[in-house]
Amino acid sequence: MEGQVKVLLNERELPTAWYNIMPDLPEPPAPPLNPGTKQPIEPAALLRIFPMGLIEQEASQQRWIDIPGEILDIYRLWRPTPLHRARRLEEALKTPARIYFKNESVSPPGSHKPNTAVAQAYYNKKEGKRRLATETGAGQWGSALSFACNLFGLECLVYMVKVSYQQKPYRKLMMQTWGATIIPSPSDTTHAGRGILAGDPQCPGSLGIAISEAIEVAATNDDTNYSLGSVLNHVLLHQSVVGLETKAQLAKIGETPDVVIGCVGGGSNYAGLAFPFYPDKAAGKPIRFIAVEPMACPTLTRGPYRYDFGDTAKTTPLLKMHTLGHGFVPPKIHAGGLRYHGMAPLISLLVKAGAMEAIAVHQNPAFDAAVLFARTEGIIPAPETAHAIRVTIDEAIKCRETGQSKAILFNFSGHGHFDLAAYEQYFAKSLEDYEYPEAMIQEALKDVPAVP
Ligand SMILES: Cc1ncc(COP(=O)(O)O)c(C=O)c1O
Repeated sequence: MEGQVKVLLNERELPTAWYNIMPDLPEPPAPPLNPGTKQPIEPAALLRIFPMGLIEQEASQQRWIDIPGEILDIYRLWRPTPLHRARRLEEALKTPARIYFKNESVSPPGSHKPNTAVAQAYYNKKEGKRRLATETGAGQWGSALSFACNLFGLECLVYMVKVSYQQKPYRKLMMQTWGATIIPSPSDTTHAGRGILAGDPQCPGSLGIAISEAIEVAATNDDTNYSLGSVLNHVLLHQSVVGLETKAQLAKIGETPDVVIGCVGGGSNYAGLAFPFYPDKAAGKPIRFIAVEPMACPTLTRGPYRYDFGDTAKTTPLLKMHTLGHGFVPPKIHAGGLRYHGMAPLISLLVKAGAMEAIAVHQNPAFDAAVLFARTEGIIPAPETAHAIRVTIDEAIKCRETGQSKAILFNFSGHGHFDLAAYEQYFAKSLEDYEYPEAMIQEALKDVPAVP
């Protein structure tokens, strides 16, 4: 259709199985290790904090995993999500590129996060848990898990990174509306939090610290499990509905993407969009995958690929990933969801194998891009999403310069309705661009365990 803006799927076209990239990887993934023995971790050891249904998915080599009907029933509250052609942005940029975005901001909590939150709440409920404990950075993940727990009758305890708790009071209220309990982290409710506060009473918090607090609660209470919003294989698996729908939508209009872009914090929204396109790339289609991260937390572009802990208190198994060191506390940039020292092992592996590129951008140029997007396409992006938009615009400008008409696809991972304080600072020109000093990165890496 001439001038078409949205490509929609009907509810019957919702994917009924998740795509698992494991059997299609360019090389076998390195197993998670027990930090004590440095040997591959026994799945049973994870049962203390995760349900078996998710532990099985974490290591599964099965390419397609059926989505249970109860999860599909909830996905239908907002899925399938629209795929948009950003025609007004294209016009503003005078680019011959065709820009597409998958709009994950239409979920009730406002981002891609409920795709996995609903699945995780389902498996925990099925295995008899009463409560889930988790961390949240920007508040998007905490909102998503609060939303999902409420639908399954589970309690939800959220450790919210203190700087976000202060910057985003309305995210907190959103979580409360869905019935969750929210605690600013570091807190005095856990051993891990008290330890951090003793060393630095003003600590702004980090995802690594909040994860330690939530894991401690799960590990010390039988009725409580832990839930992680990114990084792990099963989370990336659940997010594959994003890319599967996008493939079906692009097929309807006879398109295939040349470039696939997404912001990366722990890697889940980007993996969700990109992984279902990976078999096409492996079969020879020239698709470029670009993961975008903040300059202030440059995990993929400046962190080495090695085994590290997923949290500050060293309670998780060791994961082979790009890392800035589990002790790294990133500056207070506004994309709270991108302030994580590690990266999903599956994304890390693809970057290391050369199948995926990584670019780091500063927050002011990201907000420049977000404002242009809001003024052309109408939707106000989350600061995390703004990073993906920055690189999308840069690629589209390159097309203008070369005259190439590429199809550029990005994931619109969330809206920024609760991030307007950050926009206020941007308009007041008081947002700082941080580049993490190399010496401090090296310092944080000193404590990364040696694994032969
Ligand atoms: C809107 C949005 N996009 C992206 C991210 C980054 O997380 P991930 O890399 O797991 O998608 C977050 C995390 O909170 C988020 O809220």
